[in-house]
Amino acid sequence: MKAIIFIVLVAISAFWLYRAANGLIKPLPKPEVSNNTYWGPGKPVNYEAPTDIVPFEIKYDQTIIDDLRTQLNRTWKFTAPLENIKFEYGFNSEALRHIVDYWRDYYLVKWSAHEDYLNSLPHFKTEIQGLKIHFIHAKPSAEARKEKKVVPLLLLHGWPGSVREFYDFIKLLVEVSEVNDYVFEVIAPSLVGYGFSDAATRPGFDILQMAVVMRNLMLRVGFEKFLIQGGDWGSIIGSAISTLFPENVLGFHSNMCVLITPLDSIKSYIASWMPERFIPAPFFYNHHFPLKDKYKFMIVETGYFHIQATKPDTIGIALDASPIGLAAYILEKFQVVTGDRRKQEFNAMDKTYKLDAVLDNLMIYYLTGSATTAARFYAENVASDSKAMSLFRVQTTVPMGCARFKYDVPPALDWSLKDKFPNLVHSTYFNQGGHFAAMELPVMLYINFQEFTKKAIAD
Ligand SMILES: *[C@@H]1O[C@H](CO)[C@@H](O)[C@H](O)[C@H]1NC(C)=O
Ligand SMILES: *[C@@H]1O[C@H](CO)[C@@H](O)[C@H](O)[C@H]1NC(C)=O
Repeated sequence: MKAIIFIVLVAISAFWLYRAANGLIKPLPKPEVSNNTYWGPGKPVNYEAPTDIVPFEIKYDQTIIDDLRTQLNRTWKFTAPLENIKFEYGFNSEALRHIVDYWRDYYLVKWSAHEDYLNSLPHFKTEIQGLKIHFIHAKPSAEARKEKKVVPLLLLHGWPGSVREFYDFIKLLVEVSEVNDYVFEVIAPSLVGYGFSDAATRPGFDILQMAVVMRNLMLRVGFEKFLIQGGDWGSIIGSAISTLFPENVLGFHSNMCVLITPLDSIKSYIASWMPERFIPAPFFYNHHFPLKDKYKFMIVETGYFHIQATKPDTIGIALDASPIGLAAYILEKFQVVTGDRRKQEFNAMDKTYKLDAVLDNLMIYYLTGSATTAARFYAENVASDSKAMSLFRVQTTVPMGCARFKYDVPPALDWSLKDKFPNLVHSTYFNQGGHFAAMELPVMLYINFQEFTKKAIAD
């Protein structure tokens, strides 16, 4: 009798455990999302977006630049770093002081040359769902069009990046070269709430809504079918477009292939005991393991995420009010995820990307005053009624490509990625490089993207 009760209890527990686990790990159905929600100010009746696309130039009054130079010249309370400390406690104030001097006395003095450089690619704006959206539209030359097949490409940046990340990469993408079979017609938008694009005026603008706007932008420009490339939020948004609108996506290539799902955590844990079964070479184990170090990295480096996901307006006010504070907050991220020089060298950013490129990106946040609206995107994606996180569990058959750079945030294993992207056609590892791959290693990313394109759109 006792044995029967025991067996029945075990069976019942096993059944509940199975149900609970299954609820946590089985793929979810594709959510419904309206394709035309209005996000502008007010509530216009019978709104129809104007469909014109107008050229846009980055042009700021000299008085704004002079005012910034004056602000950077004020005495600021400078707390010396602790002895023998570099960037372990946050951005090193000694290093920042040198950067601020350079910013004020060298970079800003030549601002019009930086502005010309930013305008060296063609910029446009068009209104989507009540929001003026800014984008770069770079086309291959007429000769290139004759020689190679042209493919439209949506390039998506993240936080705290901008379209500035892509300048070197775009110049490669539109050119004919020996290694390529394709040239690309590139659309690189500023995300909603970032840089030169408008921000939503009501709560709820999450990844699903960003995906809708970016897809509508591609349709507006005239592309029904296109490739997507992105890192950071750009990767997660690209994944969302591929999931919600697979009919429009020829292929999706990511340089931050992460999955945030319970099943991914379980699989990482299992794989950590036998990495040789899941990772092509021991050389690359450190991209994923040891898990202890990866979790530590995620805890130590993502405090900003918690702040922006809970109180974006508070941190936003501080950042929009203080250019030096904004510099410390944004440059810290470029420092931390920068190649193998992370945390050590004061001039790591200059070595890796050129300081001017990092300052161009910082200027976009400063001039557009977008620290608050950019930070809000975090809050919208973790809001309880957002489906942003559950989207990681909705499958898509869009061809996927993954480029894992050594010093980026820990990526997903192929074993996990295939849960979401059963059509994973290109999976690669690099033994160098960090989070801002397009900026740090544009040629490598370009070659990798070409390899992916051949597989994704092979006839
Ligand atoms: C938007 O959704 C409506 C209703 O489902 C549909 O009729 C329309 O074709 C969709 N438009 C686009 C651009 O997908
Ligand atoms: C910065 O302040 C110093 C000393 O007050 C002054 O000589 C210099 O002209 C100022 N520079 C700028 C760019 O405001």
